[in-house]
Amino acid sequence: MAISRRRFLKTTSAAGTVGFFAANPIGDAIAKTISADSTLMGFEPISASTTDSIKAPPGYQAEVLISWGDPLFKGAPKFDQRNDSKAQELQFGDNNDGMTFFQLSDSRAVLAVNNEYTNNEYLYVHQGKRINADDVRKSQAAHGVSIVELVKISGNWQVNLDGRLNRRITAYSKMEMTGVASGHELLKTTADPSGKQILGTFNNCANGLTPWGTYLTCEENFNGYFANSSDKGLGESYERYGLGAKDRGYDWFKYDKRFDMAAEPNEPHRHGWVVEIDPMNPNSTPKKRSALGRFKHENAALTVNSDGHVVVYLGDDERGEHLYKFVSKNKYVVGADSNRDLLEEGTLFVAKFNGAEGELKGQGHWLELTWGRNGLTPENGFPDPASVVIFARMAATQVGATTMDRPEWVAIHPDNKSVYCTLTNNKYRGVKETQPVNAVSPREKNPYGHILRWNPLNDDHTADTFEWDIYVLAGNPEVHQSGLMAGSENINKDNMFNSPDGIGFDKGGRLWIQTDGKYTNKGKFAGMGNNQMLCGDPRTGEIHRFLTGPIACEITGLTFSPDHKTMFIGVQHPGEDLAPSHFPDGGNSIPRSSVIMITRTDGGEIGA
Ligand code: FEO
Ligand code: CA
Ligand code: CA
Ligand code: CA
Repeated sequence: MAISRRRFLKTTSAAGTVGFFAANPIGDAIAKTISADSTLMGFEPISASTTDSIKAPPGYQAEVLISWGDPLFKGAPKFDQRNDSKAQELQFGDNNDGMTFFQLSDSRAVLAVNNEYTNNEYLYVHQGKRINADDVRKSQAAHGVSIVELVKISGNWQVNLDGRLNRRITAYSKMEMTGVASGHELLKTTADPSGKQILGTFNNCANGLTPWGTYLTCEENFNGYFANSSDKGLGESYERYGLGAKDRGYDWFKYDKRFDMAAEPNEPHRHGWVVEIDPMNPNSTPKKRSALGRFKHENAALTVNSDGHVVVYLGDDERGEHLYKFVSKNKYVVGADSNRDLLEEGTLFVAKFNGAEGELKGQGHWLELTWGRNGLTPENGFPDPASVVIFARMAATQVGATTMDRPEWVAIHPDNKSVYCTLTNNKYRGVKETQPVNAVSPREKNPYGHILRWNPLNDDHTADTFEWDIYVLAGNPEVHQSGLMAGSENINKDNMFNSPDGIGFDKGGRLWIQTDGKYTNKGKFAGMGNNQMLCGDPRTGEIHRFLTGPIACEITGLTFSPDHKTMFIGVQHPGEDLAPSHFPDGGNSIPRSSVIMITRTDGGEIGA
């Protein structure tokens, strides 16, 4: 690991970027803290890979738990590309993403898994060329959430088709809108004049967990399912959310009128929320939590503050959008039933970052998004409290929030003091006027992404002020001999990667980093190989590559059994856009998104 320090000394001597790191405190800070003596990471780092398989360190094994289309109930049809919507309703959904493991007993558990989207090229035998009504229903059934009961047999977790908690939640399951926007005019539709009874959740990206045992699923690119069959534009509030004339090729609007905004202009207001699900009650109605705002939610990182308030950190994954924080009105009380309503009411905040350009650290502030304050008034287009959460993005602009490089997952260190957020990449940084290069977004077009972290003042997550710095700037030190594109001090030829996305801490404080980046292995991305998972020691700064995925996949989603002997991760969309992958079944099979279990051959804890 000493190479990293040597490279720093060598690369900063190049003309044009002389002394950049030397002149910047974070560069110095990272350089000082990097050492090769991590006692946290006990595995042998692996090299980059372009093969159609999963690679893990020596002494580790990877096994498929469940793949798209596998039965979820006894008697459900086996996977077949020709399966119809009725079959899909009884099978594991597609494109698994964020997930949480809930242990029920030594040998019984539940895994709640998001199913983000579908790939037409594999969902249908006709690859999406002639979509009919049942195809649309099948696509909707492949979206949402899969609740999967697990049983441990001879030390191995496997799917239990008899489990009474097995459940599919789809793009047409019944849910309830709660909080400040529930019942608002803007949420009323022909089918639901109450504005409270919503159908479905889709584009469920990443997730969150509450201490009262519920699962949070986050609606991300909901705009991609809506089209406008009329030639009349819908206006600024639609444009800000990417809602336009065309959908992203799902064609739902052709057979399900609620996805045609010309017919149902309020339907898109009913999506883009965080949804709370009780996985222990298969008859429970999922609740959309409007107090947490409407945007392209990535995940929901929840903590109980020292004073009992529940704080949830939330990223809005879009170039130039923002980072948010929710603080509950009421307080968490161990064991109380009232905890179940904590996400119903509270205050939303959005982040503003300060810091001198080139410093990569500074102070930040949370700006309150409360109706009647900070210019969130009728004169500025916010007629009532609900309008602030329904159009949270516009409220964030109104109060002067900082535009970010696509905030993806947020993760809170187990010591509950520092918070990390991936900023995956942003080709508009320094290009669009509203997205200038600055301290927190230091690179023009940011092709590699970075991971930001902050500490709330006095370790109080409800505080308005925080101190921030950059934990890692991903980069390619082989292609760029110097400067910010080479990456920060803790990046070297052996661990380089691009586009960090999924992150999470294990109980030991290891930071697991998953990538959703360019896998060309060429040009700027040469030497990085397929998407992958790395492990970081936040104390020493070291980052080691732990796992590599198959062709054209993203690695996303992570959760552990409480003994940390099984790690569950997701392989999402292997072979997307018809890239040559046959993962996981091999032969001539079509590739399928899958949940993978990682264990150690000696039965030890993962990463240790
Ligand atoms: Fe679904 Fe921003 O990733
Ligand atoms: Ca993601
Ligand atoms: Ca991503
Ligand atoms: Ca993805």
